[in-house]
Amino acid sequence: MKPPKRLQALIEEGLIDTVVRQLMSGKEATVFVVRCGDETRCAKVYKEATERSFRQAVDYTENRKVKNTRQARAMAKGTRFGRQAQEAAWQSAEVDALYRLADAGVRVPKPYNFCDGVLIMELVTDENGDAAPRLNDVAFSPEQARRHHATLLLEVVRMLCAGVVHGDLSEFNILLGHESGVDCPVIIDLPQAVDAAGNNHASRMLLRDVANLRAYFTQFAPELRSTDYGLEIWDLYQRGVLQTESVLTGRFVQQAGSVDMRSVMREIDDARDEESARLIRMG
Ligand SMILES: Nc1ncnc2c1ncn2[C@@H]1O[C@H](COP(=O)(O)OP(=O)(O)O)[C@@H](O)[C@H]1O
Ligand SMILES: [Mg+2]
Repeated sequence: MKPPKRLQALIEEGLIDTVVRQLMSGKEATVFVVRCGDETRCAKVYKEATERSFRQAVDYTENRKVKNTRQARAMAKGTRFGRQAQEAAWQSAEVDALYRLADAGVRVPKPYNFCDGVLIMELVTDENGDAAPRLNDVAFSPEQARRHHATLLLEVVRMLCAGVVHGDLSEFNILLGHESGVDCPVIIDLPQAVDAAGNNHASRMLLRDVANLRAYFTQFAPELRSTDYGLEIWDLYQRGVLQTESVLTGRFVQQAGSVDMRSVMREIDDARDEESARLIRMG
């Protein structure tokens, strides 16, 4: 196909050779299949902030690292330079998370390049070498559902051990890849990933990610409905004892006399939201 304007520069730079086809146009990015030498890869072209939808909310960008204080002040004030800085921070957050998670052994697409708001990464494929389906487009037997659910919980634990919460994990952001003869879930779409230790909303996001997995796989394996892996995982993490080898039970029993984590987290979140609202009101 005729390369779209945003990919022209990458062709001139020699980072990609040809654009094969458009794969998807989502809420926040358009994804293309591209050829690089004799490899097929994918190129994720981020939309400009004005065309994007919802995820740049305060809770995601809170505590995101910026390079210097001028940038931080500009971002806080919402000047044009600030918006550009925020835009760049948002886009590069995904490539940063991909490198960090790949290092931690999480199955994510291998990143190759990030240039001019375009991320070049591995194309996740099915058994025919075509772009892999999203979990949302696949049906599973109860046994497969239990297996993929367990695999993905382990991925969530690996991410958390690496200090990252996905923040938008669901059947729409997991592909069913096929490797060495077996189906293998691959986690994608990470620009909103948050730093587990530095973001006050991390616990809530982790609980939501895990609840999304449960809700999706419960359709195929109803016994998963009564599991409570999210609280169990967060409790281990908070106590500093979470490891990729941690054995999970799917049950979370409130210790007698211990704090009710759910309500404590709600209190902290509420206080935080009130404070942000106050700061905004004060300009
Ligand atoms: N590495 C990849 N390999 C194969 N398909 C991909 C890859 N990355 C994205 N896609 C496809 O593009 C779609 C949109 O990508 P995603 O990263 O989820 O962006 P958005 O923010 O638009 O949801 C995905 O649902 C998936 O179908
Ligand atoms: Mg997505």
